[in-house]
Order: sequence, then structure tokens, then C-alpha cells
Amino acid sequence: MAPKVLISDELSEAAVQIFRDRGIDVDFQPKLGNDKEKLLEIIGNYDGLAIRSATKATEKIIAAATNLKVIGRAGIGVDNVDIPAASKKGIIVMNTPFGNSITTAEHAISLMMAVARQIPEANASTHAGKWEKSRFMGVELTNKTLGVIGAGNIGSIVIDRALGLRMKVVAYDPFLSEDRATELGVEKLELDDLLARADFITMHVPLTEQTRNILSRDNIAKLKKGVRIVNCARGGLVDEEALADALKAGHVAGAAFDVFAVEPATESPLFNLPNVVVTPHLGAATTEAQENVALQVAEQMSDYLLTGA
Ligand code: MLT
Repeated sequence: MAPKVLISDELSEAAVQIFRDRGIDVDFQPKLGNDKEKLLEIIGNYDGLAIRSATKATEKIIAAATNLKVIGRAGIGVDNVDIPAASKKGIIVMNTPFGNSITTAEHAISLMMAVARQIPEANASTHAGKWEKSRFMGVELTNKTLGVIGAGNIGSIVIDRALGLRMKVVAYDPFLSEDRATELGVEKLELDDLLARADFITMHVPLTEQTRNILSRDNIAKLKKGVRIVNCARGGLVDEEALADALKAGHVAGAAFDVFAVEPATESPLFNLPNVVVTPHLGAATTEAQENVALQVAEQMSDYLLTGA
């Protein structure tokens, strides 16, 4: 009998076609991620579950998944999957670590430019019929120091783009070798040195016990005055309350956040502060990235379900 896969989030139709072409019986229910009860009721019928962000593969869902062999996350983070619960049942959890890296790196660069030139506020003011030419004085990126925290897949693309913008780039990443830093064209620093030197900081690390609150209140106090912070990685990396205080005090000149400690974020200490640019976790939201991750997750899950590889 053909393996059965449930797609419970908005995934590109291309993924559905791949599953079908590979001989998998696929059930595409893109709104199901928001309906926990229904998911709980039917999850036992499937060998595979393909998700994006809305579906939460909790311990309860996993306990009810009596036939499940694989959960595929079309994206990088697997924060919405209870990995220990899945592992205990021998369910493989796979992600697509490369498909949306370029798109996410581009969003970080966009946010950096937006906060450097106060584009969202200038846009709103101009739409409102004001012509506040002298209100929006920005800063140039050329020759500024960008501090990149995390020089992996996404961080290294950000580094490449920032060097193209003629920025000086420094990086903090305990896993970055000197050789790789040289290859990337960055100076490898300890975190405190990066905090003291950077004019802009962007984060590209997962949220782990080591990285949670990496920009804590204490570390925010170590930042160079006038720094601008970009977070396109994960909420929880920055103490939002402490950052809001530093923005109000004028120690930090701006922030651009795509991710928040609690999501969906309907409130945050950062909301409605001047020169804070916010977007609703759009890092991976391009047609190209969504197509890439959907295709990759469908291929990987099909391989696993059909051949065990
Ligand atoms: C990811 O983990 O792939 C990104 O944060 C994008 C997303 O969650 O949609």
C-alpha cells in the first residue's frame, strides 16, 4: 500500500505534485494546522506529516500519531515540533536547511537598509501628505561595521551581501574557524568585542539554551552607542524589554525585527517606538523560497518513506 502523507499547512502545490509523482498518497489540507482537534482526530491515518509554521506537532499530536514515521518541516527551524517526543517514538524529523537561506539573508539586508534610512516611517509620513524632508536623516552603510552573530548558512550569505555593500564585517560564531573566516572575508571576534565595535548587528543563530537572550540587558549595555539591531532569526535571542529601554534612552539608534519572543506577536515592548521596523516573520516569505522548501521537503520525505533513506 502507498504511504500516506498529510500536508497540514500552506505548502506550495509543487510539493503535492512531487508526492503524487513519487507514488505517495497525499492529503493536502492547508488550513488544518490551525485546527488542533481535527489534526488530533486524523493524524493516526498517516505515515508522514508535512508542515510549515502553523501546525504544532506537540507531544499530544505525536502520541496520537500511531503510524507516523516522518515529520517534514518546509523551512529551517523545527521549533514547532516536539523533537524529544518524536524521537521517543522513532519518528524522524527533517527540515530543509538551504531552501530559504538566500531569501532570509535578503530580508535581513532589507531590514538593515530600512532601519538605516527610516524607510517605513518616511513612507507612512509621505502617504499621509506630509513632506518631512528634514525629519528623516539616515546613515550610510559604506564603511560601517556590521557585526554578524552566527556565520552559518544564512549568516554567510548576509556577510557576502554586506561586503558587496562595502561594509566592514566582523563575526561572532564559536563554530567559525579562522580559515573559514578568512574565506568569508570577515574578522572573527569574541562576542564582547563585536558588541563594542559594531554599528549594525544582525543575528543568524537558532534559539538554543546557549543563544537565548544573547542580547541580554547586560550585553545591550555593552553595545556601541548608536548601534542598530536586526533580528531576522528567532524571537528570544534579544531581551525585547531591555532593547526597548535602550532605544528610549537613545543608546540604540534603531531596531528591525522580523521575529518575536511570542508569535504571533500582537504586542511587544518594541511596537510603536520610533525607528523600530517590524515585520511578521517574513524572513522566508518569497515565492522562490517557498517553492524551494516545498520541493525539498517533498523529495526528502518521499525518499525516506519509499526507501528508508
Ligand atoms: C524557518 O525556520 O525556515 C524560517 O524562520 C521561516 C519560517 O518559519 O517560515
